[in-house]
Amino acid sequence: MVSPRKIIQAIIESVYLGEKIKPIQEATRRILYKYGIEDEILFRRITGIVYNIFRNYGLIDYIIESITGINVYEVPSFERSILRVSCYIQQLDTVLYEKHKVKYHKYIVDFVEKKYGKVKSRNLLKALDSIAKVKWIPKNKYEEFMAKYRISIELYKALEKAFAELGEDIPVFLEYIQGKVREHVFRVNSLKASRNAIIKYLRDFGYDVVPGYYSPQAIRLKGSLGREVLRLIETGVLVAQDEASMVAVELLPLRKGIEIADLCAAPGGKTTYMAEKTLLKSRIHAFEINKDRVKRMRRLLERTGTIDSVKIYHSDARRAVEILGKNSVDVVLVDPPCSSTGAILRNPDVRWRFNESEIKTINKLQKELLETAYHIVKPGGHILYTTCSLLPIEGEYVVKYLLSKYSSITLVKLDKPFKESPILPGTMRSYPHIHRVTGFYYALLKKKNT
Ligand SMILES: C[S@@+](CC[C@H](N)C(=O)[O-])C[C@H]1O[C@@H](n2cnc3c(N)ncnc32)[C@H](O)[C@@H]1O
Repeated sequence: MVSPRKIIQAIIESVYLGEKIKPIQEATRRILYKYGIEDEILFRRITGIVYNIFRNYGLIDYIIESITGINVYEVPSFERSILRVSCYIQQLDTVLYEKHKVKYHKYIVDFVEKKYGKVKSRNLLKALDSIAKVKWIPKNKYEEFMAKYRISIELYKALEKAFAELGEDIPVFLEYIQGKVREHVFRVNSLKASRNAIIKYLRDFGYDVVPGYYSPQAIRLKGSLGREVLRLIETGVLVAQDEASMVAVELLPLRKGIEIADLCAAPGGKTTYMAEKTLLKSRIHAFEINKDRVKRMRRLLERTGTIDSVKIYHSDARRAVEILGKNSVDVVLVDPPCSSTGAILRNPDVRWRFNESEIKTINKLQKELLETAYHIVKPGGHILYTTCSLLPIEGEYVVKYLLSKYSSITLVKLDKPFKESPILPGTMRSYPHIHRVTGFYYALLKKKNT
């Protein structure tokens, strides 16, 4: 029997380690191993709590600051973990700990006193006491939305504005993102296997697998991933990729023998797909600024058998004009960094990390990358601008900027398989709550022949 004191300590340490080691489950696994907690049910329950703490960290930090005045980022990270665990138990947990809140508060206090000493930890103990005694209640509609939908107030406001402009229903979207991801989506690498053959193969092993909704290469798989699937991933037959990302490549006018530039390439989902679709008979110039992501991309290119048709540039893609030259490529893909708001369901960090001033910086980069694409594409060539963002400022307005600056660029109409954008007709958006894919924006541009 594992004592509750030990469980609380293990949770605190897991939350602490979870800030340093990803995925969070791995951090928890290491701590539970250290504490000798092997019971499967307990193991899963603790992992679930730690995951929940991370999923709600923005709300937890907000409540801590409201009650105690402490900004958790101004205290050492172990103390931050203690405060977060305490706040989760006292303020957010309504099932597991409800009956035992007082007792668990005492365990945390004892642990802190033992670790730091009563005098040294006076401020921390005072904060823990307030967290246990003062019930946080939302004071306005934004705090209510934050507590209900588990997204930061800043992000809620940005989405409220975006959805009003796009004519979309924000409550339906917010309800939808409270759910769990229930499917794994993969692209079948057509260089190695056909989709039908893979579906049959996996069904023979008892997998619940169906074809994708939009892409001819996609499969959707429910349940956990067994060794057959892992083997297919390792050998590059399957590539984990959202269907909205596959569609981006399918919108491009690709053919054998062309020069392609992929300005923001890693981890390489779209790069490898472009190589596949051109049967390795095109030349892809793949730019990526981040060294670790270059490594990851190289591994994917090797696994999928596409490395020979891709030239990697570990470089800022804004240098592509001097590296490749003006009017030098037939097709350019611009998939720049963004708020990732379209990927909120799969990436809990997006709920809390959103920051208006960061978006301004990224926005400038998005425009510069699109302008670079304009300079390197040949007359008659195409550019696809795409982002996994739900915000028009990162989508329609970036494209409008280019269209207003250069008269020799035109839009090629897109309205299938997703929804045409009302802000810039001829460009398209996918939505998680409507299409069951990541939210993406797509604009296909053509440089006029002069
Ligand atoms: C949205 S991700 C690209 C995803 C990729 N296209 C795929 O489908 O797998 C954006 C990438 O751009 C990279 N990046 C950011 N700034 C860059 C720059 N100035 N030049 C080149 N790459 C950049 C980021 O490191 C990140 O890997």
